[in-house]
Amino acid sequence: MKEEIKSVQLQLEEDLQSVADEKALKELRIRFLGRKGLITNLFRKLGEVPKEERPLFGKMLNELRQRAEDAISEKRSRFGEKAPTDWIDLTLPGRKPIVARKHPLTQVREEIKQIFAQMGFSVAEGPEVETDYYNFEALNIPKLHPARDMQDTLYISEELVLRTHTSPVQIRTMEKQKPPIRIIAPGRVYRRDTPDASHSPFFHQVEGLCVDKNISLGDLKAVLSVFAQKMFGQDARVRFRPSFFPFTEPSAEMDLWWQTPKGGEWLEIMGCGMVHPNVLEGVGIDSRVYSGYAFGMGIDRIAMLKFGITDIRLLYDNDMRFLQQF
Ligand code: PHE
Repeated sequence: MKEEIKSVQLQLEEDLQSVADEKALKELRIRFLGRKGLITNLFRKLGEVPKEERPLFGKMLNELRQRAEDAISEKRSRFGEKAPTDWIDLTLPGRKPIVARKHPLTQVREEIKQIFAQMGFSVAEGPEVETDYYNFEALNIPKLHPARDMQDTLYISEELVLRTHTSPVQIRTMEKQKPPIRIIAPGRVYRRDTPDASHSPFFHQVEGLCVDKNISLGDLKAVLSVFAQKMFGQDARVRFRPSFFPFTEPSAEMDLWWQTPKGGEWLEIMGCGMVHPNVLEGVGIDSRVYSGYAFGMGIDRIAMLKFGITDIRLLYDNDMRFLQQF
């Protein structure tokens, strides 16, 4: 009996060495521990050995069986690590990668740029931290003038402000470039506003400026009417309403008719007007020879109208659930 146990033990160790995969391991388990396995058979034979020898052989057999079970489970876990395909659940639905898309403000800004590019406008840019001179003075808004109250401002120092509009880019452009000028200037602007559904301390504008000989209010109306049609559809209706800006004369607001199921209303879309002679003279352009028009619109406002967004703050929350809809 002792010899038999020893030989099964040797065979077990030898066979364990050559087990290379899970299938071979399963066969080995059956060969040694199965119903007719080598170790199982030895347990059956235990009944035939003399009573006094039984405890010793019993102990040896138990140890052998334990050794076989331990070795098998140890090998099984090692195969499990090596062959992960066995536990990947191929029936699970796949994970879709998130496809990036453009922010609604970017979409609208690009559309505006494209519409004006078709009409011969190029793109200009200016700094967001602006001097008092470019943001106010050069635009015919002297210090202490009540017109400054129109735009509550974030001051960095006495002379530096976060620009309250994109109009300073008008000045910077006219300083560098002689007429004819046709530019738009998209960018971020800042005002000391408390956030609510329709106010944000930062938002976006697109400025427009055209300076040349013989530019009239008719040119302004034509260009902005075409813009409205391209942006909001062929049926878009606009009206020009007298207004005031220190840097344009005359000045107007352009309203867009917004049709709703119950009726409709005129919505203010942008400020505009003929460039004030003081502004032209300030940058050394002869206002008796040249004239021009300028306009400034809020991108956020237009994006909200176009997409039916009711709270401006959603544009700045970076909530994927919101942004994924556009
Ligand atoms: N800068 C003005 C604003 O922010 C808009 C404007 C631009 C008006 C150009 C007239 C001409 O309200």
